[in-house]
Amino acid sequence: MRMFNVGILGCGQIAAVMAQNLAGVDGIRVAAVASREKKRATAFAKKYCPDAKAFGTYEQMVDMKEIDLVYISTPNTYHYENAILCLKAYKNILVEKPFTMSKAEADSIFTEAKNRNLFVCEAMWTAFMPLHKVILGWIKDGRIGSVRYMSSNLGYDIKDVPRLTDPMLGGGAYLDLGVYPTHLAMSVLGDDVYPIAVRCRKYSTGIDEDTTFVLEGQGGVQNVSYVTMDARTDGDGSIVGDRGFIRIRNINNYESVELFDKDGKLVQKEEREGFSGYTLEVQACADAIRNGLIQCPQMPWSRTAALAGISDRVLSMM
Ligand SMILES: NC(=O)c1ccc[n+]([C@@H]2O[C@H](COP(=O)([O-])OP(=O)(O)OC[C@H]3O[C@@H](n4cnc5c(N)ncnc54)[C@H](OP(=O)(O)O)[C@@H]3O)[C@@H](O)[C@H]2O)c1
Repeated sequence: MRMFNVGILGCGQIAAVMAQNLAGVDGIRVAAVASREKKRATAFAKKYCPDAKAFGTYEQMVDMKEIDLVYISTPNTYHYENAILCLKAYKNILVEKPFTMSKAEADSIFTEAKNRNLFVCEAMWTAFMPLHKVILGWIKDGRIGSVRYMSSNLGYDIKDVPRLTDPMLGGGAYLDLGVYPTHLAMSVLGDDVYPIAVRCRKYSTGIDEDTTFVLEGQGGVQNVSYVTMDARTDGDGSIVGDRGFIRIRNINNYESVELFDKDGKLVQKEEREGFSGYTLEVQACADAIRNGLIQCPQMPWSRTAALAGISDRVLSMM
């Protein structure tokens, strides 16, 4: 099978993790990297992907014919313009989360992609993890009965990271972390969950330092989540049904999922194994593109657009 060529746009922290994860994956390689500064691209390539071509502008890289997928790993407020740049150069894209700064931007990207028959996916890595499928399978099979309630938290002591406190770069706890519990709630309760309450503590720059939010699904089922940039939390989640419950260790990078019966007895436990979420999401994109798809079934455009709409509402309620 022909090698699947990935181009990395933006040589930052997560781009380095992605490049390291893709090294040695069969059939996939980082073929190019682009930075706003040539010397940064060259140093990045030398360190993480020595065979990749290094470009000193994003525009130059998206014109490279051999690239099958551009991974956009720039700050949140740049995702939209970078995505449009790629689509206008007829490149498929995998865009880091949060996909855009608004639903309007997300819709505009999908319109451009549809008109050009190009692939687009949001890098919501949890959607590609096998344990995500396990959770949804248990619920579909009725193992916990009807879902009544969900809760989760996600927090890291990261407010010294400049990108995360700068409103011009799309900082804030909800955009950085809140999209994970929102995605989990949507996966279980449906894309039409609706924020009914939001409370946050603001940082001096105006972004939310920590946020508690309640999403309501059909039948009044609620998801309560807390995200923070101010403290490390356990990152756990829980899905409660009328016949049992599921406990998730680390909703940001599933470590294990446990199924309990209605008496609180552990009946099944599954643990993480295999590839990292970074590798899985790129493999899923490669499979979809090779099969002529323009969306990943694991993270369809409808979900990304709905998630962007929920984010709009959560941010407006702060
Ligand atoms: N860090 C994580 O754990 C993580 C996890 C999952 C997702 N993400 C997502 O990935 C994206 C990037 O996060 P990151 O932590 O990798 O960010 P980062 O280390 O700050 O890197 C972002 C890169 O974007 C480029 N860039 C373009 N315009 C910029 C500007 N005006 N200011 C700063 N950088 C600019 C820079 O690359 P060049 O100078 O090379 O052009 C920079 O190195 C975000 O959307 C984030 O939500 C991050």
